[in-house]
Amino acid sequence: MNRIKINSLLQSKTPLNLVYVCGWVKTRRDSKEFSFIEINDGSCLKNIQIIAPSSLLNYDEIQKLTTGSAVSISGSLVPSQGKGQRWEIVATGISVIGLAPETFPLQKKRHSDEYLRSIAHLRPRTNKYGSVFRIRSELSYAIHTFFRDRGFRYIHSPIITGSDCEGAGEMFRVTTLDIKNPDIKNRGLDASGDFFGKEAGLTVSGQLSAEMFALALGDVYTFGPTFRAENSNTRRHVAEFWMVEPEMAFCDLFGNMEIGEDLIRYLISHALRECPEDMALFGNFVDKTLMETLNHILSSEFVRLPYGEAVEILKTSRVPFEYPVTYGIDLQSEHEKYLTETHFKKPVILHDYPKTIKPFYMRLNSDQQTVAAMDILVPGIGEIVGGSQREERLDVLQDRMDEMGIIRENYWWYLDSRRYGSAPHSGFGMGFERLLMMITGISNIRDVIPFPRTPGNIDF
Ligand code: 4AD
Ligand code: MG
Repeated sequence: MNRIKINSLLQSKTPLNLVYVCGWVKTRRDSKEFSFIEINDGSCLKNIQIIAPSSLLNYDEIQKLTTGSAVSISGSLVPSQGKGQRWEIVATGISVIGLAPETFPLQKKRHSDEYLRSIAHLRPRTNKYGSVFRIRSELSYAIHTFFRDRGFRYIHSPIITGSDCEGAGEMFRVTTLDIKNPDIKNRGLDASGDFFGKEAGLTVSGQLSAEMFALALGDVYTFGPTFRAENSNTRRHVAEFWMVEPEMAFCDLFGNMEIGEDLIRYLISHALRECPEDMALFGNFVDKTLMETLNHILSSEFVRLPYGEAVEILKTSRVPFEYPVTYGIDLQSEHEKYLTETHFKKPVILHDYPKTIKPFYMRLNSDQQTVAAMDILVPGIGEIVGGSQREERLDVLQDRMDEMGIIRENYWWYLDSRRYGSAPHSGFGMGFERLLMMITGISNIRDVIPFPRTPGNIDF
């Protein structure tokens, strides 16, 4: 018999005579003649109730079923007598597939997020984390749909790379050199003797590759893992995260902002429409103001604000920030919070930052001091998107690289794109986990990624 998943059973319009379901026991309680077992199979938040009559041959075994055990059930789907559920299954047979002894760490009670992080291999079996990872899957799919509907092509940018796109020195090194036993005769630990013959690392961004493809296919995007060896233990940084990076030829900074804003709105709407049950869990148990916040983001125009004006607003706010505000500083999360949560109370797109705090590839504005950068900040999270119009003028780009001490020869291929049919183009990166934090109301990035990587943490 074919296994039916609980999400489709619960949508049945009619009773069904013969059904076969598999899942894990959430709870069991016994009455005189029946055992009532709630099972969940991960297909949706809801459980289905199984009625096991005492006439079943292995009823003794069934009465020993513990929370977390894997079972399969055959029986019939009948209208439920109980409240709050439409259907239940009267079992004609139950097989115990895998027992979970009483030591199973997820007994029926609320566990703290910290504790659940220490059992990240089991937490997807809780209601909350089941919902998180169903939404994560659904939104990955929605990202592809968003871009495909708009004629974008999906590019697989490399994970191992020789170029530090952001120039922030946060690349994890990739090497086959034997660090414990450097082969002195063969150039020791010199990168020239390494696998690629030069230094390589895990990519911090797929942008440079995406630019090459935008200048060929028009509108493209990458969506993949990115890595940053930044030693920061905050609730919005991880060392491995997923980034969505669109790159558009013949598009300027303001066109770029529009796509970023559309993408964010589209994903919020998608989650509310396609995952109402999981979203209701977050609204009820994670953040009571979530629905209000998301609907507010959907209905408000994102503010567009030059960096210089943001600095003025912060300076005149009279808030005693931990990091004092002066023109030229990289805004801290307290500043982002003030702008999005206190001053404007909605998402803010900051643009035209001083060139001194941004990477080499951003287009220099005519004031020679600022670059055509844009960051999208949202309430509760801060920066969710970072992007720019790219410097398409070969001479200006080369000068910027020299100014920033970036060796031109290492980027010969990148510079080639400015030699042959160069064209204005723009793009951005959206941190997928930060987006998930916004949509679920979950306040720690470690709780929206299956197995978080942070300094000192590589279990699982
Ligand atoms: O602002 P970032 O560094 O921009 C870039 O990497 C560009 N090359 C993107 C582009 O233009 N194609 O990173 C983009 C976004 C941030 O806004 C943030 O959402 C996320 O990536 N991000 C992180 N998310 C989690 N943990 C970290 N350590 C992150 N660093 C950046
Ligand atoms: Mg950034």
